[in-house]
Amino acid sequence: MMLQDKVAVIYGAGGAIGGAVARAFARAGSRVFLTGRSRGPVDLVAQDIVSEGGSAEAAMVDALDERAVDEHLQHVIDRSGRVDISFNAVGIPDPEIIGVPLVDLDVERFSLPITAYTTSYFLTARTAARRMVADGSGVIMTVTAIPSRTGFPLQGGYGPAQAAKEALTRALSAELAPQGIRVVGLRPNGLPETDSLKEAFESRAQALGTSWDEWQQVLANRTHTRRLSTLAELAEMAVFIASDKASGMTGTTVNLTMGSLDD
Ligand SMILES: NC(=O)c1ccc[n+]([C@@H]2O[C@H](COP(=O)([O-])OP(=O)(O)OC[C@H]3O[C@@H](n4cnc5c(N)ncnc54)[C@H](OP(=O)(O)O)[C@@H]3O)[C@@H](O)[C@H]2O)c1
Repeated sequence: MMLQDKVAVIYGAGGAIGGAVARAFARAGSRVFLTGRSRGPVDLVAQDIVSEGGSAEAAMVDALDERAVDEHLQHVIDRSGRVDISFNAVGIPDPEIIGVPLVDLDVERFSLPITAYTTSYFLTARTAARRMVADGSGVIMTVTAIPSRTGFPLQGGYGPAQAAKEALTRALSAELAPQGIRVVGLRPNGLPETDSLKEAFESRAQALGTSWDEWQQVLANRTHTRRLSTLAELAEMAVFIASDKASGMTGTTVNLTMGSLDD
């Protein structure tokens, strides 16, 4: 029980990654507060966790709404006395961005993912940090993707958005680590189990000229293992990084690409 009695808040908990991380945190002993823009998917994850004996509470919170994020975290503090872990797993898909060549993309659509991803991460991290400073401890986490570090075609501002989030992880840590707060990101490769990866592929399928199976093989062949990682592997790493066993790690994004990207 690596997270026994820890209090965790997860943003985007109704999504594939947020849901997997929430379940893994709960199995590791954490009390989890699940939030999402729509209530239904978050409720389902919470019900699963509770039916397996875990502690979970669901709420509708728009992670781009400063007031909603703040009020929800105050609710968490009122209920639990503190927050130990903040995990931002928000994903902002837009089929009108993915698949459009950069030369054809208008400036608003280019900027949208950069603004939305960084604002959401900034808001959730800042809100948590303000509470964690008082306790002198806490872990702030998020998830990014390979386009942060290497060029992929037809992804609009998605790569710059992921790179900006990784820069924010370093900056947050530089300011917060002296006060006992660690800030660590996770960068998996594409997770074929997730609808979001398949949808992002489908928006580009024609231009890429490959099938879904061929595309997964292309991505897998870039890894040393010749396979893509799983949601379960990502979630187990999230548990470890959130735990006190990872006390020596902050100010970085963990490379879970199994060799696709060199450090
Ligand atoms: N899937 C992959 O292969 C992969 C690999 C590497 C990195 N990532 C990154 O991991 C993150 C999550 O990916 P995923 O596959 O789990 O995506 P997902 O299944 O689409 O989940 C994203 C979740 O974010 C929620 N959300 C969107 N806008 C929100 C907002 N303003 N406030 C609160 N919640 C909001 C969505 O809720 P609604 O459905 O209600 O909008 C959804 O539940 C993304 O940043 C993605 O770039 C994914």
